[in-house]
Amino acid sequence: MKKFSIVIAGGGSTYTPEIILMLLDNLDRLPLRCIKLYDNDEERQNKVAKACEILIKEKDPFIEYVATTNPEIAYTDVDFCLAHIRVGKLEMRSLDEKIPLKYGVVGQETCGPGGMAYGLRSIPGVLENIDYMEKYSPNCWMLNYSNPASIVAEACRRYRPNSRVINICDMPIGMENTIARILGFNNRKEMDIRYYGLNHFGWWTSIKDKEGNERIHDLIAHQLQYGNCLKDDDASHYTDSSWFNTARKVKDIISVDPTMCPNSYFQYYLFGDDIVAHTNPNYTRADQVVDTHEKRVFGECARIAQNGSAKDTTLQIGIHASFIVDLATALAFNTKERMLLIVQNNGAIENFDPEAMVEIPCIVGKDGYEPLSIGKIPTFQKGLMEQQVCVEKLVVDAYEQHSYNKMWQALTLSKCVPSANIAKKILDDFIEVNKEYWPELK
Ligand code: NAD
Ligand code: G6P
Ligand code: MN
Repeated sequence: MKKFSIVIAGGGSTYTPEIILMLLDNLDRLPLRCIKLYDNDEERQNKVAKACEILIKEKDPFIEYVATTNPEIAYTDVDFCLAHIRVGKLEMRSLDEKIPLKYGVVGQETCGPGGMAYGLRSIPGVLENIDYMEKYSPNCWMLNYSNPASIVAEACRRYRPNSRVINICDMPIGMENTIARILGFNNRKEMDIRYYGLNHFGWWTSIKDKEGNERIHDLIAHQLQYGNCLKDDDASHYTDSSWFNTARKVKDIISVDPTMCPNSYFQYYLFGDDIVAHTNPNYTRADQVVDTHEKRVFGECARIAQNGSAKDTTLQIGIHASFIVDLATALAFNTKERMLLIVQNNGAIENFDPEAMVEIPCIVGKDGYEPLSIGKIPTFQKGLMEQQVCVEKLVVDAYEQHSYNKMWQALTLSKCVPSANIAKKILDDFIEVNKEYWPELK
């Protein structure tokens, strides 16, 4: 069987070691001859690079391994690029979250003003990586899950329409694992689902077993009572209280429209006031991630490097991340697997902007993806999506035209922001701290 060569862009990510473990666990499905890490921050990448080398050597010494900050070395002779860069790193995530909170507005990585600020930073970083890929390995596919995925996808649509880039998010996968558990399936692949929306902004409309029996009504009844928690769940079942609260909040979200099952990210759009009330404006999610997840992963990587062995490692396979192998094998072996991707609508949602980037099921094979048709969507969902997709487009307009007003309009239009006054204050603060990353807005 053919063996593939992979580059991980954003090699210094805290998720890199568990993605490598996941790749190594799936070599029977996706045989590899080379794994490379690429980052533009050598110091950060070095925190995981040695440990990754040891993990690979202990599993399969014949897999070539390279960690580099040189784009030519990184992108030459690769079949797949797994891209998860964070332009501005967690330091800027922290400011994306804290600045809106100063004005009583949701401060979140991808939703509301924080996501827009992150969008203006991310676009050039992702485009730069696409260009390296096309220059050095024109047949390579980029499986991109760099956030904010909706805005990044819109920029890809406009500026690199013919590039081999597929934008994807792990959130529906994570939620489907939970849904499968709630409904008593052994895993999410026992379900056939229908879903539509924007990234971090969509709904499940059908969940069938393999005999074709509809189970969504059981799920709706459960979520109206328990949200996405199991009946006997409490916070101790979760590694993280923040994700436990999110699972619980699904109960409130679905109450607004109990005909379909929402992505939990709607908590930031529909219940922003509750979220703000429960957020410490001086200690946000970025701080939690740095103090827990990042500390644990970098600490463990340092220990592995020191010992020269990963035999007793506490690092775990990123099970979520196996969707990346599903996607790569679909492209490599023409499996025609059905996957949720962020793609141009093009009529799939009949009564929605054909140019919008939507998250919908697609069939994936050797030549890329074919979106499935969704049909007409109801007024509430359509209204929410139209507002949000215009926000995302205005951010990309602001990037393209270096326009202060377009960015101000984007912030003003966001469901998370109460007025143009507050939008302007947030924008002016963002401009101050993003000088190094944003185009100069005029
Ligand atoms: P992280 O900060 O730990 O790592 C990101 C790395 O990207 C850093 O080492 C940074 O130096 C590097 N980087 C920044 N700009 C770059 C560039 N232009 N070229 C190469 N490398 C660059 O971040 P993280 O928490 O692991 O998240 C990584 C990304 O993945 C983020 O965008 C995050 O939002 C996203 N993410 C997406 C999903 C999804 O399903 N869509 C899931 C998890 C994380
Ligand atoms: C989910 C989303 C990602 C997001 C991540 C944040 O996986 O799909 O897009 O980046 O959550 O998780 P964190 O633990 O960093 O807050
Ligand atoms: Mn996501």
